[in-house]
Amino acid sequence: MTKQPQITVLDAGGQYCHLIARRVRELGVYAEVQPSEIAAEKLEDRRGIIISGGPASVYESGSPQVDPEIFSLGIPVLGICYGMQLMAHHLEGGAVIKGVRGEYGMAQLNVTQQDRLFEGFQSVSQVWMSHRDRVGQAPEDFEVTAATATCPIAAIANDWRKLYGIQFHPEVVHTHGGKIILGNFLFTIAGCAQDWSPTHQLEQLEDEIRSTARGRNVFFFASGGVDSTVAFSLCLRALGKDRVHAAYVDTGLMREGETEFVREVFTKMAGDSFEVVDAKQEFLEKLTGLVEPEAKRKAIGEEFVAVQERVLETGPFLNGKWILGQGTIYPDTIESGGTAKAEVIKTHHNRVAGIQALIDAGRLIEPLAQFYKDEVRQVGAAIGVSDELLDRHPFPGPGLAIRCLCSAEVKAARQVDAGYILPVLSVGVQGDARTYRATLALENYSEAAFHTATESINQLADVNRVVALVQTAAPLASFTSQVAAIDATRLERLRRCDAIVRRLSVESGFEEKVWQFPVVLLPCGILGKPDSIVLRPIDSVDGMTAQAVPMPEALLKQMCEELMAVNGVCAVFYDLTNKPPATIEWE
Ligand code: XMP
Repeated sequence: MTKQPQITVLDAGGQYCHLIARRVRELGVYAEVQPSEIAAEKLEDRRGIIISGGPASVYESGSPQVDPEIFSLGIPVLGICYGMQLMAHHLEGGAVIKGVRGEYGMAQLNVTQQDRLFEGFQSVSQVWMSHRDRVGQAPEDFEVTAATATCPIAAIANDWRKLYGIQFHPEVVHTHGGKIILGNFLFTIAGCAQDWSPTHQLEQLEDEIRSTARGRNVFFFASGGVDSTVAFSLCLRALGKDRVHAAYVDTGLMREGETEFVREVFTKMAGDSFEVVDAKQEFLEKLTGLVEPEAKRKAIGEEFVAVQERVLETGPFLNGKWILGQGTIYPDTIESGGTAKAEVIKTHHNRVAGIQALIDAGRLIEPLAQFYKDEVRQVGAAIGVSDELLDRHPFPGPGLAIRCLCSAEVKAARQVDAGYILPVLSVGVQGDARTYRATLALENYSEAAFHTATESINQLADVNRVVALVQTAAPLASFTSQVAAIDATRLERLRRCDAIVRRLSVESGFEEKVWQFPVVLLPCGILGKPDSIVLRPIDSVDGMTAQAVPMPEALLKQMCEELMAVNGVCAVFYDLTNKPPATIEWE
């Protein structure tokens, strides 16, 4: 489908690049993402250009650049974070200062000069910062329009040339009034038309499914997730039941009751055109002995492909009358298409070799490839996919495997001023780069600790996450990690704990108040009770950034009581860390 974008977001490697495009679309303007180096001449018919943030320093060799001609097209340009620094770097008179310490998190922005970008924006406002370098000198003929305590040049503008730079992130919810700024750029400055809504595309989507299928049938691997289910229903609508088939691979890594749920939903939609493939044993064997998060993901990704190939080889797929359908959404296509520079925080398996071969042979159909997640939900609701399905919390493809942490060594918890350093590593994201570090465990849980978590991390170089101990069977001083991989016992332990947490969250209504609620098993405890549980309820808009959420005391008490009764569980911790600096999942 070829909707002409009015706005191009240049991807300078930031985690936030898609979030910017999404926000623009939410404002009713169709935006696409392109690699930052795209030639200026290819952007001549855009209404505006936005340069995203990114983890690099403009001075590093190989850092993302832009074609400097984009500043002379006469098209409005907004540089965000690293994008602003690129602007200062390329334009006459501008300079970027190398930062020693970063500024991550909330800051207070003082607008010192109202211009068209800041129209209607409060002159003192909370903004979200995530940077190390900063602009030290605005380019010639630019005004400095805003500052924070640690960043004297937090916004620059040349109204006449319609070039604007802001150091903070207007696209994240933590920046109050960020949408006002984006709206000003789109409508007042760039003159965009408000003409985009995903549900207007339905008819066109179905036409496109029919023309891509060209008489062939479509085979789906269903996961029970929103994307593949909506993609499947779209194909059902476009082609009818006889021409669409779905298989669900039971990896054994799913939550309690998941396979039954998917079976029910799909049987209702597709009747006999749905089957469950049991691959539990294969997945468990592939994961045996693996510890490192990316190694686990890779093994799962490869096994998925192996099972898929097996199914396709034995199924009706061989005769060439079938093509494969996938629920791939827009961010997936960009991130695995080789254009994005975002440092690999975590790989999402989507464009593996076997799938690439199908694309090359014209045997892949991805009806949602142009949409973001919230747009997929809108499409789903418009075609009658049930709320029960659309409102589900997101669940990662590799399932419980990435919530069942593993360890290669026996190591004791180490006491520090603030608490104990737990001997397990988890993934984090700081200044757009991946970290793999230890966790600080505070000895006492309190709501006040949520406010100081980021500060504690900034003070401890080797830590990217803070948890608080809620209940334990032994003092933290006696905790050690165990040599542990994924096995049936630990998976079942985690599945039981996850089911307890989910049941109590649903019953209490807490489930609706959070965006996602991972329950994590740590290979950390004492003899006879080798594992601990971490509760990780978070609020988020799209998973790119997230806030740790406290829960009502009575609920927490009830959860702990039931969790501590599960065989092998030594303690319950509560994850207090926002994203950044931690990620939502521990791996
Ligand atoms: P992180 O942990 O990166 O998670 O903050 C952001 C969102 O992505 C989900 N996630 C995954 N989803 N395959 C998936 O399909 C994966 O490997 C994966 N890793 C993380 C995570 O659950 C959260 O919603």
